[in-house]
Amino acid sequence: MPVDLILGTNNVGPHGKIKTGSDVRAILDLYHSLENKYLDTAYLYPAGHPGEAETVLGDLEVTKDGKFVLDTKVRSFQDGAHAADEIYKSVDEQLRRLKVDKVRTLYLHAPDRTVSFEESHRAMNELYKQGKFERFGISNYQPDEILGFVERAKKYGWVAPSSYEGLYNIVSRRAETELLPIFREHNIDFYAYSPLASGFFSNIKRNEPPPAGGHFDPATFNGQFNQGWFFRDALFTAVEELEAVGQKYGIPNNAIALRWLRHHSQLTDGDAILVGYSNIGQLTQNLEYLGQGPLPEEIVDVIDKIWDAIKDEAPKAAM
Ligand SMILES: NC(=O)c1ccc[n+]([C@@H]2O[C@H](COP(=O)([O-])OP(=O)(O)OC[C@H]3O[C@@H](n4cnc5c(N)ncnc54)[C@H](OP(=O)(O)O)[C@@H]3O)[C@@H](O)[C@H]2O)c1
Repeated sequence: MPVDLILGTNNVGPHGKIKTGSDVRAILDLYHSLENKYLDTAYLYPAGHPGEAETVLGDLEVTKDGKFVLDTKVRSFQDGAHAADEIYKSVDEQLRRLKVDKVRTLYLHAPDRTVSFEESHRAMNELYKQGKFERFGISNYQPDEILGFVERAKKYGWVAPSSYEGLYNIVSRRAETELLPIFREHNIDFYAYSPLASGFFSNIKRNEPPPAGGHFDPATFNGQFNQGWFFRDALFTAVEELEAVGQKYGIPNNAIALRWLRHHSQLTDGDAILVGYSNIGQLTQNLEYLGQGPLPEEIVDVIDKIWDAIKDEAPKAAM
């Protein structure tokens, strides 16, 4: 079975790049026409305008006819956000916005280290017992923190994490050694985000300023974050090398990146690729690439050689 796809929605909302309900509907129709159903959203999407993506999805009643299945993430990236009362407040708001009683997966989006993980985990367990979600997800946590959730779940009989969202793409493969052994041992599915490194493989050139308002714009929090991850000499060189070998076969970098994840990476049954896009044209192209087969052997070899050369400079697997 091929690795699953999950449609990202971090660009959805009146202040995102996909602004209107009808644009989102067209995107969902395209995605569904290829027999896909999973959607990923978050309290915080789109960046800087929390709640907008969930509101659009709720207004479209995406789960009503059973066509789509929703995953979302509680408010995070703010000190105190994972205090029990804050989690309850966040989830209340989110389910109301999404117009549902429950979601498939509810994530803690990123560690809130100002609150004890035991308190946050207990709160998630309470919500689980109330039937607000089916699967407990965590995202961006360090290996020892992931193991902490697994151990508490065993010790107290609480819900255990069953999926993890983390950074994984051809220039960000630390998860293979730092996280995947834990996931395999404890039955946690791995959902790979930023498969195209947020556009680094196609939209960014060395020595050229990144597009204003884009994912690498240093004027934004996300832009600074992404620059910190990807703007390294070794990574620019890696992308140029990929482009060179891809040209021999007429395969662009984004196709290489997506086909590698689907056919050659360490993702397996139960794992998934979170599909990114900022308009329907990009999504059409990405779904087409994802539907294509394995890559020529030479390209896979180059990807592995590139990884050996850059792994010390590549972004960390977790925050
Ligand atoms: N749990 C977490 O912390 C976390 C973190 C990140 C993402 N996610 C989830 O994962 C999903 C995917 O992540 P991502 O958005 O970072 O994915 P991505 O595919 O790595 O990046 C998406 C961006 O890449 C560019 N792009 C995509 N397809 C393109 C194409 N065919 N041609 C040219 N440029 C293209 C676009 O940038 P431009 O806008 O510049 O055109 C697009 O916004 C998100 O929507 C979200 O649901 C979760």
